[in-house]
Amino acid sequence: MLVTGKDILVPAREGKYGVPAFNTNNMEITQAIIHTAEKLEAPVMVQMSEGAIKYGGQDLANIVIDMARRATIPVALHLDHGSSYESALKAIAMGFTSVMIDASHHDFEENVKETKRVVEAAHAMGISVEAELGRLGGIEEHVVVDEKDAFLTDPEEAVKFIDETGVDYLAIAIGTSHGAYKGKGRPYIDHDRIEKIAGLTTIPLVAHGSSGVPQTITDRFRAAGGEIGEAAGIADEDLTRAVQHGIAKVNVDTDLRLAASVGVREAFQANPKEFDPRKWMGPARDVMSEIVAHKLQVLGAAGKA
Ligand code: G3H
Ligand code: 13P
Ligand code: NA
Ligand code: ZN
Repeated sequence: MLVTGKDILVPAREGKYGVPAFNTNNMEITQAIIHTAEKLEAPVMVQMSEGAIKYGGQDLANIVIDMARRATIPVALHLDHGSSYESALKAIAMGFTSVMIDASHHDFEENVKETKRVVEAAHAMGISVEAELGRLGGIEEHVVVDEKDAFLTDPEEAVKFIDETGVDYLAIAIGTSHGAYKGKGRPYIDHDRIEKIAGLTTIPLVAHGSSGVPQTITDRFRAAGGEIGEAAGIADEDLTRAVQHGIAKVNVDTDLRLAASVGVREAFQANPKEFDPRKWMGPARDVMSEIVAHKLQVLGAAGKA
């Protein structure tokens, strides 16, 4: 069934499990997300970035909405990193049930102002809202505490931000970053900060940049002719710990991108004469489904629908 983000995330925060929000850009990605979640009886969020809207538009949104309505599990369609009030309203008009307004690059007051505008409009239509406070960007272990503090979400500020905006869930900067290169070895994630913020708040917290970039996938990518440098993601143990302490929405895009590329590369490598799209998009969907299943298990969402 198609539900709001709040319907999915409030029980997750209360029940101390996480729900992955996977980015989609086409039918096969959407099927991998929703059908795997159905198999594992898990709630799930499907998100489209502004880039995804530019690429797939209403056609893609309708695929997600239709699949969600027919699904045996709760599914929300979420706007990822909405850059303006107009962008958020456009997504709501397209049928999204959850929107992010990302004004985190502005100063605190401007971020509050932008977020508040979106919250007022979205709530009038029964749609839930995510905002972000703090700056994402990989933090290396050797960075001194003062420098980390400049980027990462301040707990007291988070309380003030939630209070002033009425936002439904908040993305916090805890050291993770977008993409396949999150730092050397085991990338930094500030568990103390998560606990501190969670201790002062009750709304669901959101972690962006949460792909695991598993070595099994990067190894397969290289073996099938792909080139990738010193890739690293967030360890499964770190995600399991984070969701026990208040993180309820866990954003994942990079892992599905890598998985899809592995499926396509391996299919063409095994059969260079192949040109039936189902024979290379199908394998891509299969490898993505493995990632989705793994994430649902690691976060504890499996069985929660
Ligand atoms: O955080 C960004 C997501 O990975 C979406 O990326 O804007 O290239 O669609 P995109
Ligand atoms: P990854 O790049 O780690 O998959 O993060 C995706 C994300 O945060 C989308 O908003
Ligand atoms: Na988002
Ligand atoms: Zn993000």
